[in-house]
Amino acid sequence: MKKIEKIAVLTSGGDSPGMNGAIRAVVRTGLNYNLEVFGIKRGYQGMIEGDFFPLKSESVRDIIQRGGTILRTARSEEFKTPEGRKKAYENLKKFKIDAVIIIGGDGSFKGAGIFSQEFDIPFVGVPGTIDNDMFGTDYTIGFDTALNTVTEAIDRIKDTAHSHDRTFFIEVMGRDAGFIALKAGIATGAEMVLIPEIPGQEEKLEAFLSHTKKTSNIIIVAEGNNLGGAAELAKNFGKKYKEHGVRVNVLGHIQRGGSPTAFDRYLASRMGVEAVDALMDNQRSIMIGYTNHEVVHIPFNKTIKGKRDIGKELLRVNEILSK
Ligand code: F6P
Repeated sequence: MKKIEKIAVLTSGGDSPGMNGAIRAVVRTGLNYNLEVFGIKRGYQGMIEGDFFPLKSESVRDIIQRGGTILRTARSEEFKTPEGRKKAYENLKKFKIDAVIIIGGDGSFKGAGIFSQEFDIPFVGVPGTIDNDMFGTDYTIGFDTALNTVTEAIDRIKDTAHSHDRTFFIEVMGRDAGFIALKAGIATGAEMVLIPEIPGQEEKLEAFLSHTKKTSNIIIVAEGNNLGGAAELAKNFGKKYKEHGVRVNVLGHIQRGGSPTAFDRYLASRMGVEAVDALMDNQRSIMIGYTNHEVVHIPFNKTIKGKRDIGKELLRVNEILSK
Protein backbone atom coordinates (compact mmCIF):
# COMPACT_ATOMS: atom_id res chain seq x y z
CA MET A 1 0.00 0.00 0.00
CA LYS A 2 1.36 3.40 -1.00
CA LYS A 3 2.58 5.55 1.89
CA ILE A 4 0.26 8.49 2.49
CA GLU A 5 2.00 11.85 2.38
CA LYS A 6 -0.54 14.17 0.82
CA ILE A 7 -4.29 14.17 1.35
CA ALA A 8 -7.17 16.23 0.00
CA VAL A 9 -10.45 17.15 1.66
CA LEU A 10 -13.70 18.24 0.01
CA THR A 11 -17.33 18.85 0.89
CA SER A 12 -20.01 17.59 -1.48
CA GLY A 13 -23.80 17.63 -1.89
CA GLY A 14 -26.02 19.79 0.30
CA ASP A 15 -24.04 21.76 2.88
CA SER A 16 -24.70 21.13 6.56
CA PRO A 17 -23.79 23.03 9.72
CA GLY A 18 -20.66 21.47 11.19
CA MET A 19 -18.91 20.74 7.90
CA ASN A 20 -16.39 23.46 8.75
CA GLY A 21 -15.59 21.73 12.03
CA ALA A 22 -14.91 18.52 10.12
CA ILE A 23 -12.64 20.31 7.61
CA ARG A 24 -10.73 21.87 10.50
CA ALA A 25 -10.31 18.50 12.22
CA VAL A 26 -9.10 16.81 9.02
CA VAL A 27 -6.59 19.56 8.29
CA ARG A 28 -5.15 19.74 11.79
CA THR A 29 -4.99 15.97 12.21
CA GLY A 30 -3.30 15.63 8.82
CA LEU A 31 -0.73 18.26 9.80
CA ASN A 32 -0.24 16.44 13.09
CA TYR A 33 0.86 13.40 11.03
CA ASN A 34 3.15 15.71 9.02
CA LEU A 35 1.01 15.25 5.93
CA GLU A 36 0.44 17.90 3.30
CA VAL A 37 -3.25 18.78 3.16
CA PHE A 38 -5.08 20.20 0.17
CA GLY A 39 -8.62 21.53 -0.07
CA ILE A 40 -10.73 20.94 -3.16
CA LYS A 41 -13.33 23.62 -3.89
CA ARG A 42 -16.96 22.91 -4.91
CA GLY A 43 -16.92 19.16 -4.29
CA TYR A 44 -16.41 16.75 -7.18
CA GLN A 45 -16.85 19.57 -9.66
CA GLY A 46 -13.73 21.25 -8.31
CA MET A 47 -11.93 17.91 -8.47
CA ILE A 48 -12.82 17.68 -12.16
CA GLU A 49 -11.77 21.29 -12.79
CA GLY A 50 -8.54 21.07 -10.77
CA ASP A 51 -9.60 23.59 -8.13
CA PHE A 52 -7.09 22.47 -5.47
CA PHE A 53 -5.27 24.63 -2.92
CA PRO A 54 -3.06 23.99 0.11
CA LEU A 55 -4.52 24.20 3.58
CA LYS A 56 -2.57 25.18 6.67
CA SER A 57 -3.53 25.24 10.32
CA GLU A 58 -4.18 28.97 10.00
CA SER A 59 -6.57 28.39 7.06
CA VAL A 60 -9.04 26.64 9.37
CA ARG A 61 -8.77 29.05 12.26
CA ASP A 62 -12.03 30.62 13.43
CA ILE A 63 -14.33 28.45 11.29
CA ILE A 64 -15.68 25.86 13.76
CA GLN A 65 -18.59 28.12 14.71
CA ARG A 66 -19.58 28.97 11.14
CA GLY A 67 -22.37 27.33 9.13
CA GLY A 68 -21.96 26.37 5.47
CA THR A 69 -18.61 25.17 4.17
CA ILE A 70 -15.48 27.23 3.52
CA LEU A 71 -14.65 24.78 0.70
CA ARG A 72 -18.04 25.46 -0.99
CA THR A 73 -19.97 22.52 -2.35
CA ALA A 74 -21.79 21.30 -5.46
CA ARG A 75 -23.89 18.47 -6.80
CA SER A 76 -21.77 17.42 -9.78
CA GLU A 77 -23.56 15.76 -12.69
CA GLU A 78 -20.24 15.40 -14.52
CA PHE A 79 -18.78 13.18 -11.79
CA LYS A 80 -21.57 10.68 -12.52
CA THR A 81 -19.96 10.05 -15.92
CA PRO A 82 -16.81 7.91 -16.47
CA GLU A 83 -15.24 10.82 -18.38
CA GLY A 84 -15.80 13.17 -15.45
CA ARG A 85 -14.31 10.73 -12.97
CA LYS A 86 -11.29 10.21 -15.22
CA LYS A 87 -10.65 13.98 -15.31
CA ALA A 88 -10.96 14.04 -11.50
CA TYR A 89 -8.45 11.19 -11.21
CA GLU A 90 -5.98 12.93 -13.51
CA ASN A 91 -6.14 16.04 -11.33
CA LEU A 92 -5.59 14.04 -8.15
CA LYS A 93 -2.54 12.50 -9.82
CA LYS A 94 -1.34 15.89 -11.03
CA PHE A 95 -1.44 17.25 -7.48
CA LYS A 96 0.10 13.97 -6.18
CA ILE A 97 -2.82 13.33 -3.81
CA ASP A 98 -2.52 9.93 -2.09
CA ALA A 99 -5.94 9.83 -0.42
CA VAL A 100 -9.17 11.81 -0.22
CA ILE A 101 -11.51 12.60 2.65
CA ILE A 102 -15.00 13.36 1.50
CA ILE A 103 -17.51 15.10 3.74
CA GLY A 104 -21.05 14.67 2.39
CA GLY A 105 -24.25 12.69 2.15
CA ASP A 106 -25.24 9.39 0.56
CA GLY A 107 -25.15 10.68 -3.05
CA SER A 108 -21.56 11.82 -2.53
CA PHE A 109 -20.61 8.47 -1.01
CA LYS A 110 -22.08 6.62 -3.97
CA GLY A 111 -19.74 8.62 -6.19
CA ALA A 112 -16.81 7.87 -3.90
CA GLY A 113 -17.69 4.15 -3.90
CA ILE A 114 -17.67 3.98 -7.71
CA PHE A 115 -14.48 6.04 -7.95
CA SER A 116 -12.63 3.81 -5.46
CA GLN A 117 -13.46 0.75 -7.56
CA GLU A 118 -12.22 2.38 -10.76
CA PHE A 119 -9.04 4.05 -9.50
CA ASP A 120 -6.25 3.45 -7.02
CA ILE A 121 -6.79 6.50 -4.79
CA PRO A 122 -8.42 5.63 -1.45
CA PHE A 123 -11.37 7.56 -0.03
CA VAL A 124 -12.62 7.85 3.53
CA GLY A 125 -16.05 9.40 4.14
CA VAL A 126 -17.41 11.64 6.87
CA PRO A 127 -21.23 11.85 6.89
CA GLY A 128 -22.39 15.45 6.58
CA THR A 129 -26.07 16.03 5.85
CA ILE A 130 -28.97 17.50 7.77
CA ASP A 131 -31.15 14.54 6.74
CA ASN A 132 -29.59 11.99 9.17
CA ASP A 133 -30.48 9.28 6.68
CA MET A 134 -27.18 7.43 6.42
CA PHE A 135 -26.92 3.78 7.28
CA GLY A 136 -24.29 2.93 9.90
CA THR A 137 -24.35 6.09 12.01
CA ASP A 138 -26.73 7.35 14.66
CA TYR A 139 -25.96 10.94 13.68
CA THR A 140 -24.77 12.81 10.62
CA ILE A 141 -23.08 16.20 10.95
CA GLY A 142 -25.67 18.97 10.73
CA PHE A 143 -28.74 17.05 11.79
CA ASP A 144 -28.70 18.28 15.37
CA THR A 145 -28.40 21.92 14.28
CA ALA A 146 -31.18 21.56 11.71
CA LEU A 147 -33.40 19.88 14.29
CA ASN A 148 -32.82 22.73 16.73
CA THR A 149 -33.54 25.31 14.03
CA VAL A 150 -36.79 23.54 13.14
CA THR A 151 -37.75 23.24 16.80
CA GLU A 152 -37.19 26.94 17.40
CA ALA A 153 -39.17 27.89 14.28
CA ILE A 154 -42.10 25.65 15.23
CA ASP A 155 -42.13 26.97 18.81
CA ARG A 156 -42.56 30.44 17.34
CA ILE A 157 -45.31 29.31 15.00
CA LYS A 158 -47.05 27.63 17.95
CA ASP A 159 -47.36 30.97 19.73
CA THR A 160 -49.31 32.53 16.91
CA ALA A 161 -51.20 29.29 16.11
CA HIS A 162 -52.41 29.21 19.70
CA SER A 163 -53.42 32.87 19.74
CA HIS A 164 -55.60 32.43 16.65
CA ASP A 165 -56.73 28.81 17.08
CA ARG A 166 -55.18 27.91 13.74
CA THR A 167 -53.90 24.68 12.23
CA PHE A 168 -50.48 24.92 10.60
CA PHE A 169 -49.02 22.58 8.01
CA ILE A 170 -45.26 23.00 8.38
CA GLU A 171 -42.97 21.46 5.79
CA VAL A 172 -39.49 20.37 6.77
CA MET A 173 -36.58 18.96 4.74
CA GLY A 174 -35.18 15.44 4.83
CA ARG A 175 -35.46 14.41 1.19
CA ASP A 176 -36.98 10.89 1.30
CA ALA A 177 -36.43 10.39 5.03
CA GLY A 178 -38.51 11.55 7.99
CA PHE A 179 -35.88 11.93 10.74
CA ILE A 180 -36.10 15.73 10.97
CA ALA A 181 -39.91 15.63 10.92
CA LEU A 182 -40.33 12.87 13.47
CA LYS A 183 -37.81 14.17 15.98
CA ALA A 184 -39.10 17.73 15.57
CA GLY A 185 -42.61 16.36 16.12
CA ILE A 186 -41.56 14.86 19.42
CA ALA A 187 -39.55 17.92 20.43
CA THR A 188 -42.35 20.41 19.71
CA GLY A 189 -45.30 18.26 20.76
CA ALA A 190 -46.83 18.36 17.27
CA GLU A 191 -50.29 16.91 16.81
CA MET A 192 -49.37 14.97 13.65
CA VAL A 193 -46.27 14.06 11.68
CA LEU A 194 -46.47 12.97 8.04
CA ILE A 195 -43.34 11.08 7.05
CA PRO A 196 -42.39 8.87 4.09
CA GLU A 197 -41.73 5.92 6.38
CA ILE A 198 -45.46 5.73 7.20
CA PRO A 199 -47.37 5.76 3.92
CA GLY A 200 -51.11 6.34 3.54
CA GLN A 201 -51.92 8.58 6.47
CA GLU A 202 -54.71 10.31 4.55
CA GLU A 203 -57.50 8.72 6.55
CA LYS A 204 -55.78 9.50 9.80
CA LEU A 205 -55.39 13.13 8.76
CA GLU A 206 -59.06 13.34 7.71
CA ALA A 207 -60.15 11.76 10.98
CA PHE A 208 -57.95 14.12 12.94
CA LEU A 209 -59.23 17.25 11.23
CA SER A 210 -62.87 16.22 11.31
CA HIS A 211 -62.88 15.14 14.97
CA THR A 212 -60.64 17.79 16.47
CA LYS A 213 -62.54 20.80 17.70
CA LYS A 214 -61.36 24.22 16.63
CA THR A 215 -58.06 24.76 18.37
CA SER A 216 -54.42 25.20 17.41
CA ASN A 217 -52.66 22.27 15.77
CA ILE A 218 -49.23 21.62 14.33
CA ILE A 219 -48.94 19.13 11.49
CA ILE A 220 -45.33 18.54 10.43
CA VAL A 221 -44.98 17.48 6.82
CA ALA A 222 -41.73 15.81 5.78
CA GLU A 223 -40.99 16.95 2.21
CA GLY A 224 -40.77 13.35 1.02
CA ASN A 225 -44.09 12.13 2.48
CA ASN A 226 -46.55 10.47 0.14
CA LEU A 227 -49.52 12.81 0.52
CA GLY A 228 -47.91 15.87 -1.08
CA GLY A 229 -46.23 19.08 0.03
CA ALA A 230 -47.49 21.24 2.88
CA ALA A 231 -48.82 23.89 0.46
CA GLU A 232 -50.92 21.35 -1.42
CA LEU A 233 -52.20 19.74 1.78
CA ALA A 234 -53.03 23.09 3.32
CA LYS A 235 -54.91 24.13 0.18
CA ASN A 236 -56.97 20.95 0.00
CA PHE A 237 -57.70 20.52 3.67
CA GLY A 238 -58.04 24.28 4.30
CA LYS A 239 -60.98 24.42 1.87
CA LYS A 240 -62.67 21.44 3.44
CA TYR A 241 -62.08 22.37 7.09
CA LYS A 242 -62.47 26.15 7.08
CA GLU A 243 -63.06 26.20 10.84
CA HIS A 244 -59.39 25.28 11.40
CA GLY A 245 -58.07 28.50 9.83
CA VAL A 246 -55.42 26.46 8.03
CA ARG A 247 -52.07 28.15 7.35
CA VAL A 248 -48.91 26.85 5.74
CA ASN A 249 -45.21 27.31 6.39
CA VAL A 250 -42.37 25.84 4.35
CA LEU A 251 -39.20 26.20 6.43
CA GLY A 252 -36.89 25.54 3.46
CA HIS A 253 -33.18 26.32 3.40
CA ILE A 254 -33.25 28.14 6.72
CA GLN A 255 -32.82 24.57 8.06
CA ARG A 256 -29.44 24.21 6.35
CA GLY A 257 -27.77 27.37 7.63
CA GLY A 258 -26.69 28.80 10.94
CA SER A 259 -24.02 28.26 13.51
CA PRO A 260 -23.65 24.55 14.39
CA THR A 261 -24.74 23.34 17.81
CA ALA A 262 -22.09 22.22 20.31
CA PHE A 263 -23.03 18.62 19.50
CA ASP A 264 -22.43 19.07 15.76
CA ARG A 265 -19.08 20.77 16.41
CA TYR A 266 -18.08 17.91 18.71
CA LEU A 267 -19.28 15.24 16.26
CA ALA A 268 -17.50 16.93 13.34
CA SER A 269 -14.29 17.17 15.35
CA ARG A 270 -14.34 13.54 16.42
CA MET A 271 -15.22 12.26 12.96
CA GLY A 272 -12.62 14.43 11.23
CA VAL A 273 -9.83 13.21 13.51
CA GLU A 274 -10.96 9.61 13.11
CA ALA A 275 -11.07 9.86 9.32
CA VAL A 276 -7.36 10.76 9.16
CA ASP A 277 -6.45 8.24 11.88
CA ALA A 278 -8.25 5.54 9.87
CA LEU A 279 -6.39 6.45 6.67
CA MET A 280 -3.05 6.35 8.48
CA ASP A 281 -4.10 2.97 9.86
CA ASN A 282 -4.50 1.74 6.25
CA GLN A 283 -8.29 1.73 6.32
CA ARG A 284 -9.82 2.26 2.89
CA SER A 285 -13.31 2.89 1.46
CA ILE A 286 -15.01 3.36 4.79
CA MET A 287 -17.36 5.87 6.33
CA ILE A 288 -16.79 7.14 9.84
CA GLY A 289 -19.98 6.68 11.87
CA TYR A 290 -21.04 7.54 15.40
CA THR A 291 -22.91 4.76 17.14
CA ASN A 292 -23.70 4.43 20.83
CA HIS A 293 -21.48 7.46 21.51
CA GLU A 294 -18.44 5.89 19.86
CA VAL A 295 -16.81 6.52 16.49
CA VAL A 296 -17.06 3.46 14.25
CA HIS A 297 -15.98 2.40 10.73
CA ILE A 298 -18.55 1.23 8.16
CA PRO A 299 -17.52 -0.13 4.75
CA PHE A 300 -18.70 2.15 1.93
CA ASN A 301 -20.73 -0.55 0.22
CA LYS A 302 -22.66 -1.21 3.43
CA THR A 303 -23.59 2.40 3.99
CA ILE A 304 -24.41 2.90 0.31
CA LYS A 305 -26.66 -0.17 0.07
CA GLY A 306 -28.16 -0.04 3.57
CA LYS A 307 -31.30 1.90 4.43
CA ARG A 308 -31.42 3.55 7.79
CA ASP A 309 -34.49 2.49 9.73
CA ILE A 310 -36.56 5.25 11.34
CA GLY A 311 -36.92 3.08 14.47
CA LYS A 312 -40.12 1.57 15.88
CA GLU A 313 -39.51 3.02 19.32
CA LEU A 314 -39.36 6.57 18.00
CA LEU A 315 -42.63 6.02 16.16
CA ARG A 316 -44.22 4.58 19.29
CA VAL A 317 -43.07 7.51 21.43
CA ASN A 318 -44.51 9.95 18.92
CA GLU A 319 -47.77 8.00 18.63
CA ILE A 320 -48.33 8.01 22.40
CA LEU A 321 -47.33 11.61 22.97
CA SER A 322 -49.16 13.23 20.07
CA LYS A 323 -52.61 12.07 21.24
O1 F6P B 1 -29.86 16.56 1.55
C1 F6P B 1 -30.02 17.79 2.17
C2 F6P B 1 -31.20 18.53 1.61
O2 F6P B 1 -31.33 19.75 2.31
C3 F6P B 1 -32.52 17.78 1.63
O3 F6P B 1 -33.14 17.78 2.87
C4 F6P B 1 -33.29 18.52 0.55
O4 F6P B 1 -34.24 17.67 -0.04
C5 F6P B 1 -32.22 18.88 -0.44
O5 F6P B 1 -30.99 18.84 0.25
C6 F6P B 1 -32.40 20.22 -1.10
O6 F6P B 1 -31.40 20.38 -2.02
P1 F6P B 1 -31.06 21.75 -2.78
O7 F6P B 1 -30.45 22.68 -1.78
O8 F6P B 1 -30.09 21.34 -3.83
O9 F6P B 1 -32.35 22.26 -3.30
